[in-house]
Parts: sequence; structure tokens; C-alpha cells
Amino acid sequence: MKSKLTFFLLALGLFAAGGAADALLDGAPQCPEPWGVQAYPHPTDCNSFFLCTNGTLSYERCENGLLFDGKGAVHNHCNYHWAVDCGNKQVDIVPLSSPGCEYQFGIYPDSDHCSTGYIKCAYGEPHQAQCDAGLVYDAKSHTCVWPDQLIPFCNPEEVIGFRCPSSPPTGAAARFWPFPRIVHNIFISSLQ
Ligand SMILES: *[C@@H]1O[C@H](CO)[C@@H](O)[C@H](O)[C@H]1NC(C)=O
Repeated sequence: MKSKLTFFLLALGLFAAGGAADALLDGAPQCPEPWGVQAYPHPTDCNSFFLCTNGTLSYERCENGLLFDGKGAVHNHCNYHWAVDCGNKQVDIVPLSSPGCEYQFGIYPDSDHCSTGYIKCAYGEPHQAQCDAGLVYDAKSHTCVWPDQLIPFCNPEEVIGFRCPSSPPTGAAARFWPFPRIVHNIFISSLQ
């Protein structure tokens, strides 16, 4: 009798805690693939997702600062929150801060000035990281960009000795002024 009641309360507790997770775990079509690891979005919660590991379904939560969009490879299938569009799913982005890290997982400027480096936080620990040669960190886009994209915040000549053309060209070249240029943004979320 007592064990039955305990079981009932336990089941109730699991149901209350799991909610949609249990509903999905009960659903007939579980993991479509018998082998490998696949991540699937949670229908209503942007912080959560479902993971199939060799056909076994589990409920997972992204670490603080991260959200699930199916494209994230920052940590455990999750992506930086600023890069994720949650649509109208519920989302919790309350920061869990520690010294040097606003969120447990995130990337931040390493200086008030133009810098070729940035801070990458993992589990609330700040680590110094470097942009590829010739690039500087852009806090707005969370990427490394050419310094001439951040004038006057950055002085390209100071960063790499790069000099923008200072006078408009004449003749045929003038039709292409300003020069079309391949934007070389490096998405830091893909630099693992
Ligand atoms: C999935 O199964 C294969 C074959 O048994 C095994 O080698 C592999 O380690 C398993 N993968 C995981 C993530 O458990």
C-alpha cells in the first residue's frame, strides 16, 4: 500500500517535472534513427531539446547562455543565445554570472578599445581567445571582422598596417566605387 502510494507520488512528481518531455517520451514515434546521435527541438521550450542516442530518447537542457536551434555546436548541441531565434517558444536567458563572464557560456570583448582578441566563457570560466590574423572583435555582431568595418572605433593601420584607399578613383574604376568586397565575417560559434 505504502509502496504503491510512493510510486504514485513519484510518478506524479516526474510528470510535473517533465511535462512535455514525458508526453513526448510516451509518444509512439520515438527516435526515428536506431543509431547515432540526433538532436530534436522541444516544441515549446527554447532552452531544451531532445536527444536520441542510439535510439534512446533523453530530455536535455542547454547550459546558461545557450539555447537550442538545431544548428548550435557551441556546447552539447546548443548555440549562443544571441544567435538563436526562438520564435514564440518560451525562453529563459537570465544570466548566471561569475567574474569575467556574464553568462556561463558566452563571448565578450576583452577591452574597451579595438582588440584582436575576445573572452570566451565556458562553465563560467573566462578564456582569452584570438581572432584570425588581421581581424578584430566586433561586440555588436559577436564575430571577428576586418578593422575597416569598425572605423572610427578601430584604426585599421594600427591593427595590421592596412590602408583604405583615401581618394575616390577616376575613370572606369569610379563606377565601382566603393569597391565591392567579400565580407569576411568569421562566426565565432563555428570556431571550436
Ligand atoms: C552506438 O552504438 C555503437 C554500436 O554498438 C557504439 O559503437 C557507439 O559507441 C554507440 N554510441 C553511443 C553514443 O552510445
